[in-house]
Amino acid sequence: MPDARYAWWQTGVVYQIYPRSFKDTNGDGIGDLPGVIEKLDYLRETLGVDAIWLSPFYPSPQADFGYDVADYCDVDPQFGTLEDFDRLVAAAHRRGLKLIVDFVPNHTSDQHRWFKESRSARTSPKRDWYVWRDPKPDGSPPNNWLSVFGGGAWEWDESTEQFYLHSFLKEQPDLNWRNPEVKAAMFDVLRFWLARGVDGFRIDVAHAFMKDPALRDNPPNPHEGTFHKPMGEYDTQLHLYDKAHPDIHPIYREIRRLIDSYDPPRVSIGEMHIYDWEKWVRYYGEDLDELHMPFNFALLNTAWEAAAVRATVDALEAALPEGAWPNYVLNNHDETRFVTREGAAQARVAAVLLLTLRGTPTLYYGEELGMAEVDVPRERQQDPWGFRSLPELTRDGCRTPMPWDASRSAGFSDAPPERLWLPLGDDYKTVNVEHELREPRSMLHLYRKLLALRSESPALHQGPYCPIDEAPEDCFVFLREAGDEKILVALNFSSDAQQVALPTPGCLLLSSHLDRDEEKVEDTLTLRGHEAVVVRLGG
Ligand code: GLC
Ligand code: CA
Repeated sequence: MPDARYAWWQTGVVYQIYPRSFKDTNGDGIGDLPGVIEKLDYLRETLGVDAIWLSPFYPSPQADFGYDVADYCDVDPQFGTLEDFDRLVAAAHRRGLKLIVDFVPNHTSDQHRWFKESRSARTSPKRDWYVWRDPKPDGSPPNNWLSVFGGGAWEWDESTEQFYLHSFLKEQPDLNWRNPEVKAAMFDVLRFWLARGVDGFRIDVAHAFMKDPALRDNPPNPHEGTFHKPMGEYDTQLHLYDKAHPDIHPIYREIRRLIDSYDPPRVSIGEMHIYDWEKWVRYYGEDLDELHMPFNFALLNTAWEAAAVRATVDALEAALPEGAWPNYVLNNHDETRFVTREGAAQARVAAVLLLTLRGTPTLYYGEELGMAEVDVPRERQQDPWGFRSLPELTRDGCRTPMPWDASRSAGFSDAPPERLWLPLGDDYKTVNVEHELREPRSMLHLYRKLLALRSESPALHQGPYCPIDEAPEDCFVFLREAGDEKILVALNFSSDAQQVALPTPGCLLLSSHLDRDEEKVEDTLTLRGHEAVVVRLGG
């Protein structure tokens, strides 16, 4: 039963779809919007998620696979049409599914008409829509900023003899949000999709689009890295001036006012690779009047050990201002898949953690199958990050086609396997939806059960989080409580059996091995290696 005190994005679970990789309906080897429509019943009925977040499907030269947008208000023919999109919204809503789309404010494609115009002449009315600067007297770029994807962040334009800024690829010029016309145009983009019925936005590099107005040089980085993974040359600087300028906050307040003026309630979620809690929480807004949720990627930046994971959850809970809603992420289209990071056994423990913590979980397509990172051979690689920076930074391995069945192209497409935009994993004959539905203890059944449990249990989707101190070293144990429902979650991060003392006897609702349903436990709970359980205390 929906509880009126909580919004859908607080009680629900979000599922990220990378449209190229989900389901192809026209045999070109690339997933599309009709493919998403075809799989809505899977998402809602079989799996049981509440909202979809669609990565970009807008017209794009696909230099960064859609994160280089050439027109914010249309659909790339590769993915379908605006009519397909409207059908998708209607079909999702009919099933009670919400639909979140990606909003990419920091940069457009260099093929966007705004940039073409801006580039055409120094006197173009759109010149100032992007960040153009003269070279230094010695001809070098205006400052030392670097592109995330490798090399410098400035590209020289021969014909108008100035540099333009690109925080990502040179095909992704940064917009100048200090120009009020840019802001107005981008607010119109939000209005366009809100009017089409979307339920919210995932905002791309959400802290990036306001920079130091004086474009000061970044200082060198005295530490090893700054992010959750090594980023090559980009790690040599502290990114003080090329992003996260405080002037971004008033803009988020305005965005929030716009979003909140729509009914039923919509959501804003920001992509935020900020690993300093104090800085990160600012994006909720001082009066909780900015983003509904900055994405919390802290679990990507935490050693997978009981004490460290607990410390991260405790730190988040302590950092959150009163009333701010937490969220957690284990996988997305930019990260090595969890199964490959920490192993298949711990992936089941992680699933229990993600779906029993306080806060909105976001799943990534294929996570529910235990999909592993695919080792994509060099000749089939696609991601520019791997080509232009360190090869190990390629994100292709986590973007491979969703395996639906054991047929030659895994039910993803009618195209032969060699014509899929990225290859299938070697394990797709068993790691696929159809097979896992037949296997009662599969990862898919674990996610299904967890999702059902979470949605039925007020303690799990609303109750406060209360860690238990007296847990064995390799275990993380916490309580979730709402009304008279009291749930204990115990996670074993090791391969050894562990004994966990229970405050009161209880009954198992679920084990990550899916073989202990309804088991009664008295004062001691025994966990097998790599096992996580959910226990209803007191009955
Ligand atoms: C975000 C996206 C990533 C993209 C980048 C540039 O980090 O998640 O996929 O490449 O922004 O838009
Ligand atoms: Ca297609």
